[in-house]
Amino acid sequence: MRIPFIAGNWKMNLTHLEAIQFIQDLGYEFKNKNNIDVCICPPFTALRSVKNIIDADKLSIKIGAQNMHWEESGAFTGEISPLMIAALGMDYVIIGHSERREYFFETNDIVNKKVKIAFKHSLKPIMCVGESLAIRESGKAKEFVLGQVTECLKDMDIKNIFDLTIAYEPIWAIGTGKNATSSDANDMCSAIRNKVADLYNNSAAELLRIQYGGSVKPSNITELMAMPDIDGALVGGASIKVEDFTAIINY
Ligand code: PGA
Repeated sequence: MRIPFIAGNWKMNLTHLEAIQFIQDLGYEFKNKNNIDVCICPPFTALRSVKNIIDADKLSIKIGAQNMHWEESGAFTGEISPLMIAALGMDYVIIGHSERREYFFETNDIVNKKVKIAFKHSLKPIMCVGESLAIRESGKAKEFVLGQVTECLKDMDIKNIFDLTIAYEPIWAIGTGKNATSSDANDMCSAIRNKVADLYNNSAAELLRIQYGGSVKPSNITELMAMPDIDGALVGGASIKVEDFTAIINY
């Protein structure tokens, strides 16, 4: 039985002061539940402040970073290490978001290194994959996404797979208002699950949580969550609106 998992990716939005206001408002609306996992991923600068409020108010909301470096320390000006993220008490870290791949040239090899170091520091990665519109139109979306899964999981220990979440986010659906149909999204999530069964085994594939991401909103979450292979959502734009995010959690 997979517990549904809704995560909010705030991207480069909200100062730490706005984030404090947001988490207080969300906490007010949010009723602690044990039949769903909820996580928010604020920018680095707000992680500490938001975490303090989650702890003080005993909210059952998990918190994660949106990225990190694959080395533990060193001469990497401007980067944030997994040690630093772990020391802040983070639960999750988003790895390989398509915006990181597109604007910061992250490759499957980099994603693979980051996922491995995340596990080393007991951070649970939300590993993102997804195809562009051109790839979808060429009819090669499945081949492409399953190739990403295979390369990003290269030489990954099976014991770690149980703490992995994969987010399938078709790039053409991110921030565009155009979501994949629930059956197309489910089709890809099912193919990803089968790929993980091939790479590892059936029980790992059965336990793996796969999220859909791309223009998830209150009006489409119910239909997406009704799909057998979609276990949750990675929500961008709608995750920084308390009302929308609350409605999504309560789908
Ligand atoms: P969106 O973003 O919900 O704004 O489309 C999703 C994401 O990028 O994770």
